[in-house]
Amino acid sequence: MRDRIVTLIRNNIFVVWFRLLVEIYFEYLQLAKHLGAVRLKKNKRKLEADIIIRSHAIEKGLSMVKPRPGFGEKKVSDLIQLLHYYYNKFGSSNFLTLVIPILESYFEFNRNQNSFNNELWLKFEEIRGRLSLEVTDYVGGIIWIEKEDTLNSLNQGFPRVASSRYSIRDFSDQKIDMELIYKALEIARKSPSACNRQPWRVYVYRNEKKKKDLLKWQGNKGFIDNIDTVIIVSCSLNSFFINEKHQAYIDGGLYSMTLLYALHSMGLGTIPMTMAMMHSKRKDLYTHFGLQQDEVPIVMIGVGALKDKYPVAISDRKKINEYLTVFE
Ligand SMILES: Cc1cc2nc3c(=O)[nH]c(=O)nc-3n(C[C@H](O)[C@H](O)[C@H](O)COP(=O)(O)O)c2cc1C
Repeated sequence: MRDRIVTLIRNNIFVVWFRLLVEIYFEYLQLAKHLGAVRLKKNKRKLEADIIIRSHAIEKGLSMVKPRPGFGEKKVSDLIQLLHYYYNKFGSSNFLTLVIPILESYFEFNRNQNSFNNELWLKFEEIRGRLSLEVTDYVGGIIWIEKEDTLNSLNQGFPRVASSRYSIRDFSDQKIDMELIYKALEIARKSPSACNRQPWRVYVYRNEKKKKDLLKWQGNKGFIDNIDTVIIVSCSLNSFFINEKHQAYIDGGLYSMTLLYALHSMGLGTIPMTMAMMHSKRKDLYTHFGLQQDEVPIVMIGVGALKDKYPVAISDRKKINEYLTVFE
């Protein structure tokens, strides 16, 4: 009897709303203190994330279809300024070995294109000297990949399949057979989810106009022309309880990664594109692009055919020891 009453109270709509409010309040407190956007320049880790975002934007620029010589000068100048600021406040740091090679590649690209900005280079040299980083095996910029190597890698076991997947920003104009997308979706069914609820929904846009509208709305530029198919993965909040209010993003993220690997295993190129946006923009997904109100968007995936040879941003990764804690 007591249990029934407790359950009745817990499920009462006003009680549910109140508990949700309490949860969101505590979440607000955490976000208000720890989100990168809050007092960014005072916090070492927040500043580091900002520096990585900015340097990655330069690296991405190098991997797009025909980067414009001299592109991104303002961004590079701001980044160099930020590096000075970081150094003055926190000194040198190993994570910068991820950033410096990207800037080196940027200057090399412009040197080869006869669009070298010597003034900017001198500023870069100054900060590079001040940071006096140990030479490491980090690399930055772009590498060129042969499609044949990628296709061969697909039969060489998971470590090789995982390492041959890159975000592609320069696709061939070849059309993709929908059968391949279905096959990838079939593989992605095996994705895990909390209590096997499989809350994901998948939207596939192949209609030329709808696809163009969607890509334009999302906002990425410089590589979207040859994207053959656009996929949006979303997840329904209907599957979850108060303590699981973010589970949709976890299950949806896992599903999206499985789908990315599945598409890669079909020999297709993919580019994940962010669905992280403010409500004022996100609401268009429900009014213009077919998502239901109970869903949250997880990620957009552009899918295209691989060129015989294609450039990719290296996007080098931190070493495991930079984030691993083992309790033995
Ligand atoms: C959730 C998510 C959103 C992303 N959004 C974008 C995006 O909007 N534009 C873009 O060019 N790349 C985007 N990327 C690709 C990342 O930049 C890329 O995955 C990362 O640099 C690692 O490189 P890799 O995918 O080649 O291994 C996104 C990746 C993820 C996982």
